[in-house]
Order: sequence, then structure tokens, then C-alpha cells
Amino acid sequence: MYHNIVLVGMMGSGKSTIGKQLATQHNLHFIDTDTEIETQTHKKITDIFLSQGENAFRAIETAYCSTLPDKKNHVIATGGGIVLAPENRIYLRQTGYIVYLKATVETLLDRLSKDTSRPLLAGTDKAKKLADLLAQRDTLYQNLAHTVLTVGTQTPEDIGAHIWQHYTRKTQ
Ligand code: S3P
Repeated sequence: MYHNIVLVGMMGSGKSTIGKQLATQHNLHFIDTDTEIETQTHKKITDIFLSQGENAFRAIETAYCSTLPDKKNHVIATGGGIVLAPENRIYLRQTGYIVYLKATVETLLDRLSKDTSRPLLAGTDKAKKLADLLAQRDTLYQNLAHTVLTVGTQTPEDIGAHIWQHYTRKTQ
């Protein structure tokens, strides 16, 4: 029995858009870990990276992640790097049914080429950075997830319907 649905994957893979849609459709609560961190710290993620650095952000992220196993009836969109810390992977497993939204670098780049809200992509070659991050994380996402769904051209509704099918099959 899984109490929540947890979406993992790279920035730009559609976790928030798909998660919101899925939650609305099935009358579940929606949370985005980055938004929760911004609310709690009263700072934008970019500002945390700039003023305190990535390690400080990761510590805040882990502290927040440790609260997730207490949730019920939520769809949870997670920050792309949440899977890096081994303790986070344990918390996420305790939280619910995990879906990896897997996208190619081309898809991610297409969606993020004009984005300015991701500090890891600021002032760098976005294509190379995304390829490096994906190479580093793909196996982590894959090993953690109960289901891997390839995303690209389908609508959020279509992907949401697939997630729901997998989730209900596992919880019945
Ligand atoms: C990050 C992804 C971001 C955010 C932060 C770091 C990452 O979340 O947590 O900028 O390391 O990939 P999204 O995946 O929601 O963009």
C-alpha cells in the first residue's frame, strides 16, 4: 500500500506540471519540494544557491525530505537533485510509489533553453551540463523508481493517466 505518488527526474521533465494535473484529477494534495523549501526559508532556490551554496541547499533539501514519509494522499514533485543523497532515497522509498519521468537531453534542452530559475544551468553550456547531470543521475532515478515513464511529446494528461494506471495496479 503506497500513501503517495512521488515524481522524480531531471529539471524540465515535467514533474510539477504532471504532478499538479494528476493531483487535481484524483483529488489528491500536490506539493513541490522546491516550492515548500522556498516557503519555509522565505528565499528563492536561486538565492539559496547564490548566498549559501549548493551544499547548504542540499542540507535544507534533506531536512525537508525527511518529513515526506509522514504525508498521505499527496502527489509530490521533487527537485531533480534530491536523489543524490542516499538518505533522501530512503525517505522517498518510505514516502510512496515512485515514478521516474525520463526525458532525453534534447527534450530537456528544448524546455529549459530560456529558463533562468535553475542555478545549476546559469552561465554554462546548458546542453553539456544537462547531459552530465543526466549521465550522473539516470541510474539513481532508475534504481529508485517503481516505474519509469519516458516523456517527450505526450500531454501531461496522457502521462498522468499512465502513472495512475501503474499506481492503481500496484495498490489494488
Ligand atoms: C535541481 C533541480 C531543481 C532545484 C534546484 C536543483 C537539480 O528542481 O531543486 O535548482 O539539482 O537538478 P527541478 O527539478 O524542479 O527543476
